[in-house]
Amino acid sequence: QNALPRVTYSNIQADFSGVHDLLDTVIAKVRAEVLGKAWPHRIGGEDVAAGDIYDAVSPIDNRILLGRFHRADAAVVDRAVAAARAAQKSWSAMPWQDRLVAIRHFADQLENEKFQLAAACLIEVGKSRLEAMGEAEEAIDLVRYYASQMEENNGFVRPLQRAFDNEETSDRLRPYGVFGVIAPFNFPLALSVGMLSSALIAGNTVVYKPSEFAGLTGALIMRAADAAGLPAGVLNMIRGDGSAGQAMIDHQGFDGFAFTGSHKVGSDMLRKVASGVFNRPVIAEMGGKNPTYVAASADVERAAQGMMRSAFGLQGQKCSAGSKVYVHTSIRDAFVERLVALTKSIRIGDPRGRDIFMGPVINEAAFRRFEQACSNAERDGHILAGGNRLTGGIYDHGFYVEPTIVDSLPADHPLNRDELFLPFLTVQVFDDLQAAIADGNAVAYGLTAGCYASDQAEIDLFLDRAQAGALYVNRVSGATTGAWPGIQTFCGWKGSGLSGKGGLGPFYLPQFMREQSHTIW
Ligand code: ALA
Repeated sequence: QNALPRVTYSNIQADFSGVHDLLDTVIAKVRAEVLGKAWPHRIGGEDVAAGDIYDAVSPIDNRILLGRFHRADAAVVDRAVAAARAAQKSWSAMPWQDRLVAIRHFADQLENEKFQLAAACLIEVGKSRLEAMGEAEEAIDLVRYYASQMEENNGFVRPLQRAFDNEETSDRLRPYGVFGVIAPFNFPLALSVGMLSSALIAGNTVVYKPSEFAGLTGALIMRAADAAGLPAGVLNMIRGDGSAGQAMIDHQGFDGFAFTGSHKVGSDMLRKVASGVFNRPVIAEMGGKNPTYVAASADVERAAQGMMRSAFGLQGQKCSAGSKVYVHTSIRDAFVERLVALTKSIRIGDPRGRDIFMGPVINEAAFRRFEQACSNAERDGHILAGGNRLTGGIYDHGFYVEPTIVDSLPADHPLNRDELFLPFLTVQVFDDLQAAIADGNAVAYGLTAGCYASDQAEIDLFLDRAQAGALYVNRVSGATTGAWPGIQTFCGWKGSGLSGKGGLGPFYLPQFMREQSHTIW
């Protein structure tokens, strides 16, 4: 496997044939060897089969049993925190360079397993092949990037100025202790691994809960950590749904949390954690309602391509997805015509198929949200494309929906303001770019934003005014999506984040540590 070329967004579309062949084999292997098993928690290096059991089925075909997963209760969380606490002293006492050796072994194990990871991701959350392989690569790059940040900053230890000749002063960042990591379903590899590897590199130990919809990738991540020889108790995994997450938040034994998910869960979490015995960090990334502006000077073809990918890649279930587009009146018809044509040509289906661009949405709740959004759009606006569930054949065994484009909604309509996390794009027209940007900013979120323009003044206006952590200009691979470790940073402004520092970038890792200065006479 390692002999294959690296799969990155730049080469992924050029020649994917060798990758396809291998993915066919690995998908069949995962289906035969990984699916349908019982999956316990993993605590202190041991399997722990505690708590009740739930069955998870695949969104691509709900006749496929993914596995039978144990659900953590407060007692399981307590046991996991105790194991992480027991391992923390020696893990943090280890020279950071030695921790990096262990973490880089972890990245190597993930790389060895990357096709299995992608295949599991495809089957359990319905990612297309391209999205699944891209994510496996991103996960590996993330671990290596955060490791490199520790090195570039010399372990975050530095001398300070002296006040007296015989006084030594220095400053350092030190780990908090035990981190809870709560991961979402949509990037079950990259976001899990990004959060937990940062916590570990910093010297914390971790209790990690994968999404209840992504328990297999969680198991494979744990397997890679075990194969890398991470000491028992350094990384622990518990399983379960929101109730298990709640049991983690309620546990006073955590010294900090890293979370990616909805704004509601993240802000509830912040309030709860802040009401504990002392304030503990909550490093959170919490979704978006990401606007794209197609200015009068835009390349219409480029804008339509980028918008289609951004809105409908991974079924619109990316926090970075472009979910609203503002187009200048003068090019509205040309842009919409091309966008609708591209959208209608999207191949939707079981993502095991090689040419599939969109798989199903994750679950029935997402499907119900889609139905509700379409019925509101029909009532209050005009559906330009899509609007329906797909039926017949495989479509009857999963939640397959049409990518949907809507216009003529009032600017302040909830469909223009609220995150839907669906393949659902709203279109608005503008005459004045500055006013459009102001309207795009008038939402509770600020994660990503895109702009298509060739006029430098329009580009400058966008870069100056857009309130979001990641801005993209004239990007064809996705108007607002596809941030990559060390290449973009991913900071949620406003309701999209809590800390003012983003994942994928140089300021993420230090958040997992607290500062201490030493003055020695
Ligand atoms: N890295 C992913 C994106 O930017 C989350 O779309």
